[in-house]
Amino acid sequence: PQVIFSGIQPTGVPHLGNYLGALRQWAKLQNEAAPDTTLLYSIVDLHAITIKQDPAQLRQWRKEMLASLLAVGLDPKRSIIFYQSSVPAHSELMWILSCNASMGYLSRMTQWKSKLSLPDNASPLDPGPTSKAALKLGLFSYPVLQASDILIHRATHVPVGDDQSQHLEFAREVANGFNHLFSRSSKTHILPPPETILSPAKRVMSLTQPTKKMSKSDQDVKSRILITDSREEIFKKVKSALTDSIEGVSYDPSTRPGVSNLVEIMYYMDESVADSPKALTQDLRELSMRALKELVADTINVHIRDVRERYQGVMYGGGNGNSLGEIGEEGAGRARESAGRTMGIVREAMGLD
Ligand code: TYM
Repeated sequence: PQVIFSGIQPTGVPHLGNYLGALRQWAKLQNEAAPDTTLLYSIVDLHAITIKQDPAQLRQWRKEMLASLLAVGLDPKRSIIFYQSSVPAHSELMWILSCNASMGYLSRMTQWKSKLSLPDNASPLDPGPTSKAALKLGLFSYPVLQASDILIHRATHVPVGDDQSQHLEFAREVANGFNHLFSRSSKTHILPPPETILSPAKRVMSLTQPTKKMSKSDQDVKSRILITDSREEIFKKVKSALTDSIEGVSYDPSTRPGVSNLVEIMYYMDESVADSPKALTQDLRELSMRALKELVADTINVHIRDVRERYQGVMYGGGNGNSLGEIGEEGAGRARESAGRTMGIVREAMGLD
């Protein structure tokens, strides 16, 4: 049977990139899963602290993320939804995996470099004078914890956006390395190497700098649309999106990144409108930039409205249903059971039993 796992950092309300690249897919997988499929979705708070976090802010963000996951349609009765830090085995297995994780491989990964704004060829042993102090061990070993998140539940499939592909490749490497060392036969996997599931909208771009991905950490709040944004906010942000002065609407991400991003967002919000982003531009080609933006904003609003309303209900509605605290506790209990089973197998294989 399949085990689906994915995670998201509690560093603010999710944006359209998170939604189209991951969260909507998580809900879809949940709703279409076979009865014997296990689904686990984690709010990865231990990953969030690889950069400095204010405790009160982190507490609030964890809660907002749980509300967001419910708002996008995850059902805590079907999916196991939990805070990573509530399940200590994630950290325990990370230590074990780190004993066999390659420094060389980790140093080639790009995320820690981009978080420190370093060039792609920077090295962890000599990242440059100012960043030597800034590069923390936790940030450097981030992918090992991510591999542990997945492998501790023996997940077979991991739905993510494109920016996580490199991390999943690493997770497979770690799993294969572990199996090679400790499996009794080459046919049995102690830790199954997980498959990546990329959603069709695997890379949603920033509204203000459309050659960069939409990101929670961008200084400019107009660069992203949040799943909780009001109709007015959506219209305002789309209106101020960077486009170009070429007449009409066409789809070509390399020469028209801004316009193509808007077309893609519109297409992926509602795939019933056309067969592809390119095909969609056939119907839109004579529109002015202004008319295109209104249409895109309206499409986003119509398709995100239910999520926004459910979020308000979960965060501020109170009353019926379990509280966020109870939902988190319940998920943690089920996740601890799943992780505990794997730790039993791992300990036995390694002689730690
Ligand atoms: P995070 O919190 O940055 O993002 C959560 C999910 O959203 C996707 N995503 C995007 N997809 C398309 N376009 C974008 N602009 C965009 N921005 C973000 C991400 O690909 C991701 O799927 N390291 C992970 C969290 C993590 C994890 C894991 C994921 C920790 N452990 C285990 C999978 C399995 C991260 O920082 O995601």
